[in-house]
Amino acid sequence: MSELKVLFSREQIAARVAEMGRQITEDFTGESVVLVGVLKGAAIFLSDLSRQIELDATFDFISVSSYGNQKQNSGEVKLLKDVDQSMEGRNVILVEDILDTGLTMSYLKQMILAHHPKTFKIAALLDKKCCRLQPIFADYTGFEIPNEFVVGYGMDYAERYRNLADICIVP
Ligand code: IMP
Ligand code: MG
Repeated sequence: MSELKVLFSREQIAARVAEMGRQITEDFTGESVVLVGVLKGAAIFLSDLSRQIELDATFDFISVSSYGNQKQNSGEVKLLKDVDQSMEGRNVILVEDILDTGLTMSYLKQMILAHHPKTFKIAALLDKKCCRLQPIFADYTGFEIPNEFVVGYGMDYAERYRNLADICIVP
């Protein structure tokens, strides 16, 4: 793994995730939220973020396929697993590891809005703003990053490196 270069250390990530949690706590004071994580990349982010949110919260997970084992987005989004609970009338926060082209988030946003949530927000740990093909933005963003392929803290390259504590660039 010596070829990997650290982009954000575990300390930097923890500090930023804590800020995001505080912001969400403030924005939804007195309300409950449902955190919908996008498997598998957002699992670690959701588990850390949720513990920084001091609100009544529940978890749900969806799974989509978009990249396969390549670094390039195929442009196709396929739903592999839908939410388990009803989203109707709920404060839904879609929790994603990284917003890249926006194809995945646009698809998931449409899908969740069709459930008629009370509010809908997106929390993305990383944002590759430069790569957007769809006009979609996160309400809570951890870090904006350039067009580099990153791994760690839940994110993979061909399913590897998800368990790295730091976010690293794959050269
Ligand atoms: P989008 O539909 O292009 O926005 O794709 C977003 C998804 O692609 C993210 O949820 C990630 O799973 C994956 N992805 C995009 N960029 C990276 C990266 O640099 N490393 C790992 N996964 C990535
Ligand atoms: Mg993902």
